[in-house]
Amino acid sequence: MSTAERATVDIDMDRVERLIAEETEALNAKHVRSLSYREEAKAHLPGGVSSSWQSWPPHPIYVDRGKGPHVWDIDQNEYVDFHNGYGVMVMGHAHPKIVEAVQRRVELGTHFAQPTEDALIVAENLAERTGLPYWRFGNSGTEATLDAVRIMRATTGRPLILKIEGTYHGHHDALMVSVFPSKETAGPREHPNSVPQTAGLIPGAAESVVNVPFNDADAAERAFAEHDGQIAGMIIEPIMTNCGVVLPDPGYLDRLKEICHANGALFAYDEVKTGFTVGWGGAVEAFGVQPDLVAFAKALGAGLPCGAIGGSAEGMRMVLDGGLEQVGTFNGNPLTMAAAKVNLTEVLTKDAYVRLDEINEILHGCEDVMERYDLPASMKTLSAKGSIDWRREPIHEYRDLWEIDDRIPQLAWLWQLNRGVFKSPGSKWESWTTSIVMSDEDAQRYVENFETFAQAITE
Ligand SMILES: Cc1ncc(COP(=O)(O)O)c(C=O)c1O
Repeated sequence: MSTAERATVDIDMDRVERLIAEETEALNAKHVRSLSYREEAKAHLPGGVSSSWQSWPPHPIYVDRGKGPHVWDIDQNEYVDFHNGYGVMVMGHAHPKIVEAVQRRVELGTHFAQPTEDALIVAENLAERTGLPYWRFGNSGTEATLDAVRIMRATTGRPLILKIEGTYHGHHDALMVSVFPSKETAGPREHPNSVPQTAGLIPGAAESVVNVPFNDADAAERAFAEHDGQIAGMIIEPIMTNCGVVLPDPGYLDRLKEICHANGALFAYDEVKTGFTVGWGGAVEAFGVQPDLVAFAKALGAGLPCGAIGGSAEGMRMVLDGGLEQVGTFNGNPLTMAAAKVNLTEVLTKDAYVRLDEINEILHGCEDVMERYDLPASMKTLSAKGSIDWRREPIHEYRDLWEIDDRIPQLAWLWQLNRGVFKSPGSKWESWTTSIVMSDEDAQRYVENFETFAQAITE
């Protein structure tokens, strides 16, 4: 039964605050070494971390090691890993086949800035999964979406990029706009402001981006009409994964592609998070719409830094004819390609996605809990990805998130962490990536914790 059809309880926020304080204290007690390490680390690593998002209150989780579906922090607490490095480790940690491939390649030399034979095998596999023939490699999702934007501008000779309000595509200037805009800065829904996500963007960066709400093809059509002949292309995460898991309405992606093409613009998918996690052929396969360009990264390299930009003959025309130089010292790095090759051809095979569906089925036990406790929450999943939205109606577009009180997902995160489940933090949502090596018991642990959590916040 959906939340729309059932009565839900009001959560007592005083109780939530008290539980956050208790859970924080319990976590700190288990993290004596982590807390002192953070102070040492701050001397040379701002905030004690290597990326600002590695720090989440009450303190960063400093990891020692991972094996299969489990990780251990530096205090030697063990967790089932539902974070999986933002979905990179959908194959599990230290997978024997990846370890073997990397060890073999290390002995043969790890960098030449020249292609090795593995690159073609990886590109062939990506072509099979997406139907898109041409591929180039890089080192991160940021590089892949940067390439996508540059290709769209170069191919059309137009200045503007259309993106979805509330999506993150990496930390380059072209797209660090309206990623998590606040209610105060975002402007009207019909014409969202272009809000820089950080200080230091090149002047004009924000003005070069037009934002529209997710799941609203009419808004995209209007944007093209209002910026006639100026929009080079649209980049979209086919499933929004940085505000929970927000699925596209039926027909939405087909229509966007049509609108882009009708206006002489390119249509690009950012599959950095959805690639290799929502299905064997990513979102291209899951929704049956083939874009002109696709950006992959994260799970492609099986834990080694890797990115890829691929496309159709038209999408990649400027790279094919040399009109645009897609470059990078570490592009197609031999170690990365060796890991990616085995990952795609021997680990993340079609069977792997059957296992992910089985795990997903177990996690749907959370829905029974929601019903039994009348929680104002809903759940969305696709293969390895899933999220719980603390809202009566599921999130349909970014602005829906503003209605969620941060304190409930924060408590849910602490609750799971203190009970042996590590998942990625997020201020307004609970989301996860499972791995093909999880046991039924690993998945069940999430559901059991969710049930005790439901009891605690409703009793
Ligand atoms: C959807 C999406 N695109 C692009 C990126 C950037 O990838 P990277 O951090 O590898 O640069 C991210 C990172 O989380 C992402 O979630």
